[in-house]
Amino acid sequence: VGQNLIKLSAVDSTNNFLKSMVSNSEPLPEGTVIMAENQYAGRGQVESNWHVEPGKNLTFSILLYPEFLAPAAQFTLNMAVSVAIQHALKTLTGEGLTIKWPNDIYFGTKKIGGILIENVLSGNRIKASIIGIGINVNQEVFEAGLEDRAGSVYQILHQHVNLISLLAQICSHIEVRYLKLRAGNYKILREEYLNFLYRFNIKAPYRQNGQIIEGKIVDVSDTGFLSMETGSGIMSYNFKEIEFI
Ligand code: BTN
Repeated sequence: VGQNLIKLSAVDSTNNFLKSMVSNSEPLPEGTVIMAENQYAGRGQVESNWHVEPGKNLTFSILLYPEFLAPAAQFTLNMAVSVAIQHALKTLTGEGLTIKWPNDIYFGTKKIGGILIENVLSGNRIKASIIGIGINVNQEVFEAGLEDRAGSVYQILHQHVNLISLLAQICSHIEVRYLKLRAGNYKILREEYLNFLYRFNIKAPYRQNGQIIEGKIVDVSDTGFLSMETGSGIMSYNFKEIEFI
């Protein structure tokens, strides 16, 4: 992963760029990485935007061909990627990093990174997977309204980090976990993922269907559902069915 690196100064979204390459041209080698200094229409989960200061952060996408992955197990790729990012960042930031379900990278109560995986299907198999990653690295300040929720590696370390070295670290950690996934080693990945998971095994309040409930996260399935122990037994929630409060 990352042997074939394409650097763009500006693009709408690195995910869009790779997606158009998958459908239009000669196949790019697996592990190709597209990074952009400035992404002017970066996308987040569920039609949100991903907007960060140009030149200071990592915004990139990795092309993988996980044909071996059954669609029902596709969340294991999210697990592999978020665990890999945790490992890569942990060597810089130490303790305090977590994964907030499904795959946000948090430090304390601030989000410092996000992942957007988009699959290109062929029949009911995954033909290509585009792993879009945004990490706030050297951005020092965030706009009003966002500053309470968004953070960066700079705010933790109070020093700047070389973007390309961090990218290389993340890519090599992803490669290790991707190979584990290809070898069918889901169990270890899930254990690592749960170890990093924010509020794992901790009773906390959530909003569900407009109501506040108390729950304890006990598992995350290969399809990405959150299992939670609640007053009404073990419940299973899809993305956006439950809100952390
Ligand atoms: C999220 O937390 O909502 C996911 C954010 C993903 C952002 C990255 S930046 C590189 C890639 N290209 C995009 O348009 N989005 C992802």
